[in-house]
Amino acid sequence: MLSLTSIVVSVAFAALVNAANYKRVTCPDGVNTATNEACCPLFTIRDDLQANLFENECGEDVHEVLRLTFHDAIGFSSSGAFSGGGADGSMLIFSDTELAYTENAGMDDPVDALLPFLAKYGANITAGDLIQFAGAVGVSNCPGAPKLSFLVGRTNATAPADDGTVPLPQDSADSILSRMADAGISNAEVIHLLASHSIARSDTLVPGHTDVPFDTTPFTFDPQANLPRGSAQRDWSAVRSEQHGRGGGGLAAARRGRDAAPVGFRAEPGLEDGVRVAVHADQSLMMSNFQSAMAKMAVIGFDSGTFVDCSEVIPDPVAPAESAATFPAGTSSDDLEQACTSAFPSLATASGAATSIPACPDGDTDIDDCPS
Ligand SMILES: *[C@@H]1O[C@H](CO)[C@@H](O)[C@H](O)[C@H]1NC(C)=O
Ligand SMILES: *[C@@H]1O[C@H](CO)[C@@H](O)[C@H](O)[C@H]1NC(C)=O
Repeated sequence: MLSLTSIVVSVAFAALVNAANYKRVTCPDGVNTATNEACCPLFTIRDDLQANLFENECGEDVHEVLRLTFHDAIGFSSSGAFSGGGADGSMLIFSDTELAYTENAGMDDPVDALLPFLAKYGANITAGDLIQFAGAVGVSNCPGAPKLSFLVGRTNATAPADDGTVPLPQDSADSILSRMADAGISNAEVIHLLASHSIARSDTLVPGHTDVPFDTTPFTFDPQANLPRGSAQRDWSAVRSEQHGRGGGGLAAARRGRDAAPVGFRAEPGLEDGVRVAVHADQSLMMSNFQSAMAKMAVIGFDSGTFVDCSEVIPDPVAPAESAATFPAGTSSDDLEQACTSAFPSLATASGAATSIPACPDGDTDIDDCPS
């Protein structure tokens, strides 16, 4: 039996261990505390981004900033084929140079959105940190998204990345995969990063159409990106023609045999030669895979061993609405273009009539009603 003394001693010891592990610093703002003072300036920047750029929504600015996290980070080549410092903020610091690259069409929006934040907070955050931080904060507004990690420590870019580091949708699967591998991203991680297309729309992939959604739910992070959009959907006919390409297969081949959980294969509209991409129909697997692949992508070009983990500043995303994808009303497995031999997961079909894809995060279907 424990004596009273030994209980007191062990309680005191536990308190000490606790203090050592969880001692927090009080930030100069007098309001927030943090595990490391390097995280203190981020609270203000987070709140400013949320209130004045993202409007606390998973809207167009979030989509665009997420795309920017990739376009900045991928500017790195381990083979030396391209020069570039990875996630170093060169897209902001050398925007005049990098925005002229074909692959960066449309990137002027997120660059213009973040430059005022860099001007305002440049003493407290580097350009590369700002891009990845804004991406992690913004994605937290998307229901179903994982909470992305955020580490502080990227130094400012000293030169632009070369033209050609960002793979183009019309590139062959082999070329896309080899470019990604040259930046340190494995084939499986390419697939995991493509989950970002769950919260994406394109202004350029379908000629004559802007805001073409990649799935039925462009404002929630969910595995619907794996499924057909349905015949009554907004811009469906245009997107459909993009989806019906054939050929490629590199990504599907790369994907085969990985992960025990259910995966589906579909034509990825961003890969115009009809390459089949494996994507998860499982919400929680999609979340964890995206989280780990983003953590890797966000530090390309850096040794993050000395970085400070400030993930505590990232808001907790809203939980996913559904645990698995459903076929949109009016669609079924008959609408799938499956390219691999493994079974497609068995999914329910949403009941009722086919519904329109929302144009705004609040569900409004008229794009002119969206706040920004
Ligand atoms: C920079 O960070 C320090 C420390 O958190 C803070 O006192 C200061 O107000 C910040 N500057 C800006 C412009 O937010
Ligand atoms: C990074 O670049 C920005 C923009 O030029 C500048 O405001 C900031 O002071 C730089 N940060 C460092 C640590 O040099």
